[in-house]
Amino acid sequence: MSRLIQLDARLSLAYDLYDPCDLAADIGTDHAHLPAALLQRGRCQHMILTDLSESALKNARETVIRCRLSDRTDLRAGNGLQPLEETCGMISITGMGGRTVHDILLEGAEKLKGASLVLSAHTDLPLIREAVCRIGYHLDREEPCFCAGRYYLVLRARPGVCSLTPRELRLGGPLFESQSSQLIPYLTRRREVLQDKLRGLVSADKPEESLIAQVRDDIAFYDGMIGKGKES
Ligand SMILES: C[S@@+](CC[C@H](N)C(=O)[O-])C[C@H]1O[C@@H](n2cnc3c(N)ncnc32)[C@H](O)[C@@H]1O
Repeated sequence: MSRLIQLDARLSLAYDLYDPCDLAADIGTDHAHLPAALLQRGRCQHMILTDLSESALKNARETVIRCRLSDRTDLRAGNGLQPLEETCGMISITGMGGRTVHDILLEGAEKLKGASLVLSAHTDLPLIREAVCRIGYHLDREEPCFCAGRYYLVLRARPGVCSLTPRELRLGGPLFESQSSQLIPYLTRRREVLQDKLRGLVSADKPEESLIAQVRDDIAFYDGMIGKGKES
């Protein structure tokens, strides 16, 4: 019997940010849980699943066979967006470091062909925001979640002019419009991280005054947002 894929909180959020489409692609798919769920629940009709690693593609193949999705999937080995030729409605890149997602977007920008993007990374979110702006996209959603003991953001980007300020590039743009119950816990955790960073900067042999001022300013900004969230 074919198995219904259950998604964890991070991939559920990625699923929720997907628009219905005829053809989508999941880059760095590994276990292929997100595309399997998108196909099983009918949000996407066909999907291209890619990965750099042959052993990851083997995992994807196993999921596809177990879920009886072979005739609706196309598995391809390759770096980033390079294996894509077709025009996709949506493309997801999740579960990698922010630097890798940044490089994939910049190196493969011509392969996007107007697709909307669902992006997530466990590090270096500002690099993803920067890459999104550099390829002529803008972010329309940034949603937090808590999964397996840590916070993640899942971002959605669409073609269009990016108007993020330097602080929005660092901390988030549409994030602050999120209605998620995880927003305040996420901001509280990010504030703690910045507070730790500030302690390190202040006690350095040669304190970098402009960076210290920026971190203080960002902490104050988080305080304002956390306070506003608690009032509402
Ligand atoms: C941790 S898994 C993430 C699986 C799934 N996307 C998720 O979010 O749970 C990361 C996958 O990205 C693949 N990967 C890393 N760099 C890549 C690149 N430049 N192009 C394609 N795949 C890549 C790895 O081989 C690995 O299978």
